[in-house]
Amino acid sequence: MRNYHLAPSILSADFSRLGEQVETCLKCGCKYVHIDIMDGNFVDNISIGPAVSKSLKPIIMKYDGVMDVHLMIEHPDKYIDDFVDAGADIITVHVESIGDPKATIKKIRSSGVSPGITLKPDTHINEIGDLFTIVDLVLVMSVNPGFGGQSFIPEMLNRIQIIRGMLDEMDLEVQLEVDGGIKNSNVEDVINAGANIAVAGSAIFNDYKKIADNIADLKMSK
Ligand code: DX5
Ligand code: ZN
Repeated sequence: MRNYHLAPSILSADFSRLGEQVETCLKCGCKYVHIDIMDGNFVDNISIGPAVSKSLKPIIMKYDGVMDVHLMIEHPDKYIDDFVDAGADIITVHVESIGDPKATIKKIRSSGVSPGITLKPDTHINEIGDLFTIVDLVLVMSVNPGFGGQSFIPEMLNRIQIIRGMLDEMDLEVQLEVDGGIKNSNVEDVINAGANIAVAGSAIFNDYKKIADNIADLKMSK
């Protein structure tokens, strides 16, 4: 399998031990910490906000990690400054949540943060195709955003391949991240389809095995 980054999604972590669990992931060699921000409007779930994100920044910095913020909220423009202040290294926004994607992406970049763009599984790729040249990351959602622990939508493998082809054709060094339902059984397919960052929540934070063992299993999955 090609080399890739495994990005733990803290949505499935034990929030009473969040710092400790994030540190375990970083110690296990994960560089990206994926933080899912949900507002109960754009998606039917509420998670955490900038304050909790900011509390993780010192731990992430200690291991030279990357704070990867995925905004699943209405009016993300209103909150970009808060997540910049929280220490985000990447801020990814949903194309469905913004009126003027180019302006939002520009605002993120001018704040010194890497912009990412994403789309729901039912949204057509054409909605984001003209943004590839101005973002640092494209996130393919492989479940409908809102909840951890859902099943990977198999049709999204084709979407990953198509976007990888487009990025290569345009000769762009844009990260291709995939989020939702990634397990030992499909991580290889996701990477072979062209992703270079795989997000995993419930496959890393669960009651079956220790975090370190789950990370090792995912990294070794064939
Ligand atoms: C879904 C989130 C994902 C999710 C991943 O809206 O964006 O990051 O928590 O969790 P799993 O890996 O359990 O699908
Ligand atoms: Zn996410």
